[in-house]
Amino acid sequence: MTLALRDPDLFRVDAYIGGEFVSSILRATVRDPATGDVIAEVARCGKFETRHAIEAADDALPAWRALPARKRADVLHKLAALMEEHVDDLALLLTSEQGKPLAESRGEVRYAASFLTWFAEEAPRVYGDTIPSPVSGTRLMVIPQPVGVCAAITPWNFPSAMITRKLGPALATGCTLVLKPAEATPLSALALAVLSQRAGVPPGVFNVVTGAANDASVIGAVLTSDPRVRKLSFTGSTEVGKLLLRQCASTVKKVSLELGGNAPFIVFDDADLSEAIRGAMTAKFRNAGQTCIAANRILVQDGVHDEFVSALRAEIDKLVVGPGTEPSVTMGPLLERNGFDKVASHVEDACSRGAELIVGGGAHDLGGTFFQPTLLTGVRHGMLMSSEETFGPVAGITRFTSEEEAITLANDTPAGLAAYFYARDVGRVVRVSEALDYGMVGANTGFVSTTVAPFGGMKESGLGREGSKFGIEDWIERKYVALAF
Ligand code: SIN
Repeated sequence: MTLALRDPDLFRVDAYIGGEFVSSILRATVRDPATGDVIAEVARCGKFETRHAIEAADDALPAWRALPARKRADVLHKLAALMEEHVDDLALLLTSEQGKPLAESRGEVRYAASFLTWFAEEAPRVYGDTIPSPVSGTRLMVIPQPVGVCAAITPWNFPSAMITRKLGPALATGCTLVLKPAEATPLSALALAVLSQRAGVPPGVFNVVTGAANDASVIGAVLTSDPRVRKLSFTGSTEVGKLLLRQCASTVKKVSLELGGNAPFIVFDDADLSEAIRGAMTAKFRNAGQTCIAANRILVQDGVHDEFVSALRAEIDKLVVGPGTEPSVTMGPLLERNGFDKVASHVEDACSRGAELIVGGGAHDLGGTFFQPTLLTGVRHGMLMSSEETFGPVAGITRFTSEEEAITLANDTPAGLAAYFYARDVGRVVRVSEALDYGMVGANTGFVSTTVAPFGGMKESGLGREGSKFGIEDWIERKYVALAF
């Protein structure tokens, strides 16, 4: 299958190491989730290629870190501009490998480019400090320095933005990066490698090692054990994040983790219901529910429960399911069969334990991994869809009575990534914002993602923050220099 790209050079299938595209005999198959068709056979990297990439990143480090920050910023600006220029091609690649509607892919590519612009602007503002010394004849200074060679492992649900959220601060601070993109979605990463070459990112500063699902643990083991790698940034499941954290312990790397969520979405009696419906549709059905910050437990207070359910159903009925490349489509397929099976099992579990199916509930007529947008009521604590991330287009409603009950239910999970609530009473807005144990809280909004605010979780949802002025901190060491004269 050939993709109709305006710039066919953006379609690459080889790993990118030391500024060159490197082939391999073994290939990994990339499929279009909407059709199941093979769209690419990419290089399979193993230990050798991963070490080679680390070496390239290590070799490139001294010159890159020595560049004035403004020069690094110029390169990042160029890369962002190239992403904007090629937004249609990048969106087509993204939809073809991931499945989301083209409009969402275009939005993601622009969101991705915005991290490069943001961190280009932050690069010249990474300040140090001087500390008044308690001893005369001394000066105490704190100087920011790049962490060094870094590794990033990124997920398939946002194949472009989750890369640049790491690449931006890495390059801005003077670090070099070895990226392992998700095996299902390497094409966006490789197109970014092409654009990085054109933007003037020097060889070795950004490297991409691709592979099949079976290669992930091998590549991960090298990235987490090689002493030259000083930091790992990972976005993905909590289970894999914990494993990588353990592996990084042997060489005590800095670790940033953006892991799974189990977001509550609370609608209080005093909510603006039409806004709450709008927010729920975004928080639940964006990317077919395949986001870490998706509303996973929709908690609705008694007084507005029935009205909310019928209004949400009316909006769900408007969703147009189909291949993301069709302009009218608003919800694409799920990425893969495993995810589909998990979503189906959550619905079955809920229904077998007393939940009521309002609409949807299983495979869509289109077949493959298309899942019907689904609404259930009577979802209770303890059902699978309350305790695990469903990662699919299933809205499960739980009824509650009091504010205290909602907060207790909302916080009763080891996850702590995003939470949402709708209320108009100012006192309640403040109380609930402060009581939710989550890294990000949407108060009267179902959308919290933005380049300029810190993205990250509490509890088992992760370590560190990405984006915003805080996102730079994880990529620098603050060295203290005591100077006597
Ligand atoms: C996610 O991590 O799944 C969401 C990413 C975003 O919205 O920035």
